[in-house]
Amino acid sequence: MCGIVGYAGAENAVPVLLECLRRLEYRGYDSAGMAVVDQGKTLVRRSVGKLAALETMLGREPLAGATGIGHTRWATHGAPSLKNAHPQQVNDVALVHNGIVENFLELRHELGDEGCVFGSDTDTEVIAQLVAQAMARGATLREGVRAALRRMRGSYALAVLCAREPNQIIAAANGLPLVLGLGCGEVLLGSDVTALLGRTEDAIFLEDGEVAELTSGGARIWNAAGRLVERGPRHVAWSVEQAARGGYKHFMLKEIHEQPRVLGDALGAYLVGDRVALGPEPVDAALARRVNRVVIAACGTSWHAALSGRIAIESLARLPCEAAWAHELRYADSVVDGATLALCVSQSGETADTLAAARELRHRGTPLWAVCNVVSSSLTRAADRTLCMHAGPEISVASTKTYLASMAVLHLVALELGHARGVVAPETLRAAVRALRDIPRALEAALQGEEAIARVAARYADSEHFLFLGRGRNVGTALEGALKLKELAYTHAEGYPAGEMKHGPIALIDDKMPVVVVAPRDHLREKLRSNLIEARARGGRIIGVCELEDRDTVELCDDVLPLPSVDPLISPFAAVVPLQLFAYYVADARGLDVDRPRNLAKSVTVE
Ligand code: G6P
Repeated sequence: MCGIVGYAGAENAVPVLLECLRRLEYRGYDSAGMAVVDQGKTLVRRSVGKLAALETMLGREPLAGATGIGHTRWATHGAPSLKNAHPQQVNDVALVHNGIVENFLELRHELGDEGCVFGSDTDTEVIAQLVAQAMARGATLREGVRAALRRMRGSYALAVLCAREPNQIIAAANGLPLVLGLGCGEVLLGSDVTALLGRTEDAIFLEDGEVAELTSGGARIWNAAGRLVERGPRHVAWSVEQAARGGYKHFMLKEIHEQPRVLGDALGAYLVGDRVALGPEPVDAALARRVNRVVIAACGTSWHAALSGRIAIESLARLPCEAAWAHELRYADSVVDGATLALCVSQSGETADTLAAARELRHRGTPLWAVCNVVSSSLTRAADRTLCMHAGPEISVASTKTYLASMAVLHLVALELGHARGVVAPETLRAAVRALRDIPRALEAALQGEEAIARVAARYADSEHFLFLGRGRNVGTALEGALKLKELAYTHAEGYPAGEMKHGPIALIDDKMPVVVVAPRDHLREKLRSNLIEARARGGRIIGVCELEDRDTVELCDDVLPLPSVDPLISPFAAVVPLQLFAYYVADARGLDVDRPRNLAKSVTVE
């Protein structure tokens, strides 16, 4: 949801900012822009569309300067257009912003009454106007930013520069992420650490309410009360290679192929022999005794991971468990208290709805564990305990590897809780760990089906409607398969528990509505086959996600997305891979931008 970058150093900021923006483009790509200070002037270039359009413009109208800020936008206030692109400039003040100014209309009216003329529809321009107004009254850039922040409500991350103070950038964050990267004779700024990769591995994460000043000589940070903060950098272990495409046509394809290794890493971090060790200390026995319920809060793909995690927690830890949409949970009068363990799942750790749900759950006294990929994200800072997904940077907007990694972590939580509560027999525990350890092999095997899947995808690339069905552990898989197709191929796709089909969706089925059925060999196989026969009888074309050796199921299918033979516990891991590939190849066959689907952003940091 908008990417912010900044550079203060000795080099020309423009190529550095472009490189940083490229890594953040997943956060938004409606428009892009940058501003530098050059020879006493603030110069701005902006363009509508993806970053490539800005690069073309900079080729025609070059910029140079040693201090600069940049932005890639996902529109909230004001349609994607040139006038609404960032930086927003007022006099010699240029500002980039992520977030929403909640009292923006009020401020806009006040400023309008004072004679300010607005050139855009954005809430961002209001901030730039406030800074410029304060500076016109004699404030320094930092004082001007402070004055603006005092009048704004809402969460924000922003960066400002001004030709009158040419060598510095002022940055501020509250509720949204901003990271400073300390290099040699240079300081960088990014909405997340991926922006900084390749230039520095030393990062300082701004805390809520902090204001930072960046110059080539270093960074200074003040807290909300205006006091200087002493905080050393943290070392970031992610590498440029991890964040590069590595020869694949798209990041998504690379990330799908990384899954066996990622799952090996995620499981390796938490399995010791045939034991689960989520941290240096086992789960506190008092907590395990006290907890009588688990609530998992998440959105999007993370919520689908929660659906499968919920089943694992109920069956292995014998605790009632709810998988709740974070945006619903935060406003629901849910029955949660100190005996409820709250798990918030979020790849980014910045999803506004999930963060708000986390805060609400905390407010009601629940212990809070974050299952998160981005360490030091806002969610991890709000939680009592963080269980990292260990998936490395995920660049493609549609989540793949972090879906699997978060499911793995939730299964491990189920086992550790079950063990701490004394409800899992040692043999069940050992068998479950054995099955989980088999996931990387199962994923490798699932990837072997890629060519066959690409061929099937090509046959269905023109279909406009799909129904995805699954049962039990694979209801989440069916929903995730449908979501991937919606996100990437802009195709109408419904995901349903197969048993629900006859209560409505069956009315949709005809020969134009392919039905994708997730059909592993588990205890629900016979039931699922009946659903499949019912769909066939209505003329539906059946695409089965099933083992090629499962002749009874294969016979009922028009096409098969091959599934390796796996323990039922891990079937959601193996079965989603063919669906990810299917969606990828349908979208690619349609010539769509797989990594940057329209209207979506990787992390949605507004409500
Ligand atoms: C956005 C993304 C989805 C993602 C969801 C939750 O909508 O487009 O791919 O699943 O946010 O993101 P999170 O970072 O909280 O897992």
